[in-house]
Amino acid sequence: MSIETLVRPSDLRQHIYEWRRRGLRIALVPTMGNLHAGHATLVNHARKHADRVVVSIFVNPLQFGPNEDFAAYPRTPIEDRTLLQQYQADLLFAPEVVDMYPAGMKHHTIINVPEVADILCGAFRPGHFAGVATVVAKLFNIVLPDVAVFGEKDFQQLHIIKRMAIDLCLPLEVIGIPTVREADGLAMSSRNRYLDAQQRKIAPKIFAVLSSVQEQLQKGSRDYQQLELIAAEQLIQTGFKPDYVSIRDANSLQVPDDRSIELVILTAARLGRSRLIDNVRVNL
Ligand code: PAF
Repeated sequence: MSIETLVRPSDLRQHIYEWRRRGLRIALVPTMGNLHAGHATLVNHARKHADRVVVSIFVNPLQFGPNEDFAAYPRTPIEDRTLLQQYQADLLFAPEVVDMYPAGMKHHTIINVPEVADILCGAFRPGHFAGVATVVAKLFNIVLPDVAVFGEKDFQQLHIIKRMAIDLCLPLEVIGIPTVREADGLAMSSRNRYLDAQQRKIAPKIFAVLSSVQEQLQKGSRDYQQLELIAAEQLIQTGFKPDYVSIRDANSLQVPDDRSIELVILTAARLGRSRLIDNVRVNL
């Protein structure tokens, strides 16, 4: 038996309506597919918070820049459906682009979360987080979940979605789940598929470098700029081209000040044709 899959938002709404009528709590796990153990963890957590778990798979063109990997993004629908069955998700929502953007994307309403969407990854991927916020808001409005679950690997994305939910008074809880890592520390990601064997060996260095900054901060170092520079240099020496390494206040994503008590060290770095992102938290 395969997981029940709905493509049209109207069909999904009908299903959700029936569940709601029966008083069931609903969780949503939004994904772009090519599922891996990280997604399994999200579904498991979602189940703890709800009676029914909906997983969406939609490679959202609105969040990809013109020179990004929208066409090449790994799409594995058959494997994904088998995995969702194993993860015991209840329903797959897998719309086509035309279902999500029936009038096209050019003149679509865009949700922009100010201050936090244009920094860090947003500075290197203009419009990316507006595309994410817009599609996630649409998914929320179609599925009407009580809770939505996202990975902390995309720390800035999670922050932006939480802000959007608060700003727009969306009646749901947004939950972040700690990053799931391979045995050597590499954060699980669909884009790890782009790494060749040599790059795969180098890739865990990103977590090692972030962990060493974490250690320096825990030991009392507060020269953030110097720590960022050293970390970027270490990544370059290993073969990465870092877009940034940045130490931020984990609650605001702004540069830390005297009142900051929770920090996050974030990076995005290119390795061959992959752009890897990762982050590590520090409590001061
Ligand atoms: O993190 C992702 O997979 C995507 O950005 C999301 C949240 C599913 C929106 O397209």
